[in-house]
Amino acid sequence: MPDADSAKELKDYHFDIPAKNEPFFLKGSNALDWGMQNRLSRIFNPQSGRAVMLAVDHGYFQGPTTGLERIDVNIVPLSPYADALMLTRGVLRSCIPSTFKNAIVLRGDGGPSILKEDLSNHELGLAIDDAIRLNAAALAIQVFIGGDHETQTVHNLTRAVNLGNQYGLLTLGVTAVGKALTRDAKYLRLACRICAEMGAQIVKTYYCAEDFETVTASCPVPVVMAGGKKLPELDALKMAYNAVIQGAAGVDMGRNIFQAEAPIAMIRALRKVVHELMAPEQAYDFYQTLRNEKKEVVAR
Ligand code: R5P
Repeated sequence: MPDADSAKELKDYHFDIPAKNEPFFLKGSNALDWGMQNRLSRIFNPQSGRAVMLAVDHGYFQGPTTGLERIDVNIVPLSPYADALMLTRGVLRSCIPSTFKNAIVLRGDGGPSILKEDLSNHELGLAIDDAIRLNAAALAIQVFIGGDHETQTVHNLTRAVNLGNQYGLLTLGVTAVGKALTRDAKYLRLACRICAEMGAQIVKTYYCAEDFETVTASCPVPVVMAGGKKLPELDALKMAYNAVIQGAAGVDMGRNIFQAEAPIAMIRALRKVVHELMAPEQAYDFYQTLRNEKKEVVAR
């Protein structure tokens, strides 16, 4: 029979080492539950505090857009370099191997196609139990601030937040910019802040050349920068660099990666910028070297 008192003498309780009680590494996320913080840590690298997300959800309203004709051919080889893949459940189930290890951010809403004049008429369409079944880290919901369906899309966001909060899934609020809306800091501050106030734990928004730091500063949760239309590779790297220097917690880019001349080289160069704060010119040299080598070696 073990002697409890003598066993105690053999144990080491490390009385000289205070228990750790460190703040979580992402802003605005300290009060979140363990599961949400764990999911944030799958998207955002705890060492750099930032993420390179690859958005390939365009088909939900655009169909097989350029570069996404064959997800299995064009996107699966890129996926190891993405901290998170942002996509629809249809493409996830049909095209992405279940051995994919990084985070999944699932498009949770949709409705109008590119054929409609007004793209803002989105409805929440993803059941939370299906998102859990797919092991998603987050749901992505688009809000159209100032659009015809502003209230409806904000309501989509709050419903997703309510559902996500029940099970520890994150909600990524995506600020859409309609044709009639100016993509300036004043508008983006408004849209991002509304997403965060409504409970989104991450916000995705566009870069603006002036005062982008006021957009990130006034958003109390991490902001990731959307890519937008295809730019020359160096310009896209500069935009990503400027965004992270001005407070973005990373990027969630699509066309500027998968429409690049060498997509794997591009996402690897972006990782240098986002995670290592490599100067964009140097990252572009890295891109060109990889592109010229024409061998796209898997390495992080
Ligand atoms: C936003 O509207 C959607 O998530 C897009 O499909 C995605 O963000 C577009 O990415 P990018 O503008 O970088 O191609």
